[in-house]
Amino acid sequence: MALFKKKTTKLDNYSLKNGVGLVTYDDPTSTISEQFNTIRTNIQFSSVDKKLNSILFTSSAPSEGKSTVSNNVAVTWAKQGETVVLVDADLRRPTIHKTFNVSNRVGLSSYLLGNASFEDVIQPTMVKNLFVITSGPIPPNPSELLGSMRTKDLINRLEDKFGLLIMDTPPVNTVTDAQVLAAQIDGVIMVVPQGIAEKAGVAHAKQLLDTVHANILGVIMNRVTKEKSQGYYGGYYGGYYGGYYGAEKEK
Ligand SMILES: Nc1ncnc2c1ncn2[C@@H]1O[C@H](COP(=O)(O)OP(=O)(O)OP(=O)(O)O)[C@@H](O)[C@H]1O
Ligand SMILES: [Mg+2]
Repeated sequence: MALFKKKTTKLDNYSLKNGVGLVTYDDPTSTISEQFNTIRTNIQFSSVDKKLNSILFTSSAPSEGKSTVSNNVAVTWAKQGETVVLVDADLRRPTIHKTFNVSNRVGLSSYLLGNASFEDVIQPTMVKNLFVITSGPIPPNPSELLGSMRTKDLINRLEDKFGLLIMDTPPVNTVTDAQVLAAQIDGVIMVVPQGIAEKAGVAHAKQLLDTVHANILGVIMNRVTKEKSQGYYGGYYGGYYGGYYGAEKEK
């Protein structure tokens, strides 16, 4: 199986321009979509005592698949019947407006700056039950905005209004945004691309998340090979085998 069509140890700007591949929407009966269903179920089971109202996806470094994984998990979750709001909290490298083909005139940054109302920034998508809040215009001070009381209030409002809030965030090791948000979200999931992420980098990211007492539910191994799909600290969600990216999404 051809695992890596292209090397992504360097910054990958494909999804910035085109959005990420929504295999769960484009090809819901495929093996990969099935794996996303399994991932969803496992996330649900990882918190049996308390129903999760919000989950956040992050990783140690850029271009490791945070947006791909979080967006596809959001689709499978909404398809199950729960109302889901997917928030693009990556105010530096946003992709959700591209992926779902919606306007990014107003979004998270606009709301946080007081330039748009709560209702203004919530947009429906082509997936029933799935709503998105795009990044909005890229602000000069993302960390400051995301650390504000207004962000805290927004998270609470979204948790009340929707069955589940899902956040796509920047990598933990480069900026503090994900850390700041993780402290306010019920569960955190790390995307770990097998064979790409440095072990030390992942350990460091976990440390940073532990500092803010984030509730790390587990990791999702992205691009794992079958032989390597056994265990990793914090739990293992079932593989999401790479390789389908030979067929790039056309837009
Ligand atoms: N399982 C996979 N197999 C092959 N390529 C993948 C896989 N998952 C993601 N990619 C590719 O890797 C690139 C980065 O993916 P994605 O945009 O989801 O990462 P990200 O962590 O959100 O990046 P950023 O740090 O820019 O937000 C994209 O080109 C995507 O198509
Ligand atoms: Mg991303």
